[in-house]
Amino acid sequence: MSWKRNILKTDQRDAVVKAMQPVLYDFIDLSLQLKQAHWCVKGAGFLPVHEQLDDIVESARKASDEIAERIVMLGVAPQGHIQTTATATRLEKYPDTFVNVDKTLTLIADRLDKTIQGLRTAIAAVGEPDPITEDLLIGISADLEKHLWFVQAHEGEAR
Ligand SMILES: [Fe+2]
Repeated sequence: MSWKRNILKTDQRDAVVKAMQPVLYDFIDLSLQLKQAHWCVKGAGFLPVHEQLDDIVESARKASDEIAERIVMLGVAPQGHIQTTATATRLEKYPDTFVNVDKTLTLIADRLDKTIQGLRTAIAAVGEPDPITEDLLIGISADLEKHLWFVQAHEGEAR
């Protein structure tokens, strides 16, 4: 589908959507993994981490909505199905068990980092065809990078 009035030329639009769709899959998975972590975190220092994880869920859900709606603005149907996301996500599966606080922080920091790397790849790809999408993704990455700092700040010893 295209809109009657299209912002980008078809080849530009296709390049932008091709860069954004994998990021959407990562964010949908990230939102679900953060909830899994929120439910299963256990042990000393549980409560602030349990609450912090829900703050990140809120950011991740907002980001996935903004990414999907940007794809819509460009005239393409975003793909947000759980079945497709399950195979397309670039994040590793979260454990099935309860997870202690330190391990939870490490697992979440790794997944935030992976999502940010994907975002930064997309940012590099969309800048030339569409600086507006680039701006959106930069804002999303800045927010996620702040969350990564907050998670890493109480993850074990400083290196
Ligand atoms: Fe909850």
